[in-house]
Amino acid sequence: MDNRPIGVFDSGLGGLTGVRELARLLPGEDLLYFGDTARTPYGSRSRDTIIRYGQQDVAFLLSRGVKAILCACNTVSSTLPADYTAGLPVPFIGVVDASAAAAARATKNGRIGVIATAATVKSGSYTRALNALDAPQLPLSVTVRACPLFVPVIENGYVGRGEPIVTALAREYLAPLKEAGVDTLILGCTHYPLIADAIADEMGPGVTLIDSGAQGALALRDALAGAGRLRGRTSGGEVQFYVSDSGENFAEVGGLFLGKDLSGAVHPFTLAAP
Ligand code: DGL
Repeated sequence: MDNRPIGVFDSGLGGLTGVRELARLLPGEDLLYFGDTARTPYGSRSRDTIIRYGQQDVAFLLSRGVKAILCACNTVSSTLPADYTAGLPVPFIGVVDASAAAAARATKNGRIGVIATAATVKSGSYTRALNALDAPQLPLSVTVRACPLFVPVIENGYVGRGEPIVTALAREYLAPLKEAGVDTLILGCTHYPLIADAIADEMGPGVTLIDSGAQGALALRDALAGAGRLRGRTSGGEVQFYVSDSGENFAEVGGLFLGKDLSGAVHPFTLAAP
């Protein structure tokens, strides 16, 4: 048993998709969230910059005494070197492998789509993870598309159903996935579930959407349970949110997404200079 909080981080709002699922799965756990809102988006930056930002995010969470880290950011999960994450003093769970495995389980026709940031697409992480999966009965074909404008739009609060800007972007970005006939679409950026309605409307009812934040949360739960590190209580968990810019927008949009008032729980925090 380990009573320390679980750390979760992302470049901004996206990691809340992991928080929502962790709070549902593990209502007795305390969660500590960091959103690097001063530097979002990460997905259009260089590999070196993403590694630096990701390591600073991890250092912040470690300095707060977390017992495990959910990297609820596909961009960072796809970029941080494996020898760095393996050397951390607490378990570190990314979102890519769990999401690829969930997609391989869900697909019936073997055609899987991935939408993600430019950096995640460039890293090749999803294609590698899907190709490594043992699915001998069903060869997988993977169609990947970068959707760089989704994150800034979401961070600016355009998350309501029927927002014209989101509908237009979804039509543009998802066309190749529809053409490829995918029956399973990995939302390979944790921000995208905030606009899942628009994505589902565009893809149509026969397509299963995989929420990478939620899949990462499941993997983290299993890792903690396997290591005997869950808290011995089933309710009363608290969530504290730290952001690197003013917390107003985060509290407003995040509160809408989580369905609760976040205003008292969001703390601005300036990361140490690199
Ligand atoms: N939500 C993150 C991801 O899953 C990062 C998006 C961004 O900052 O570009 O990739």
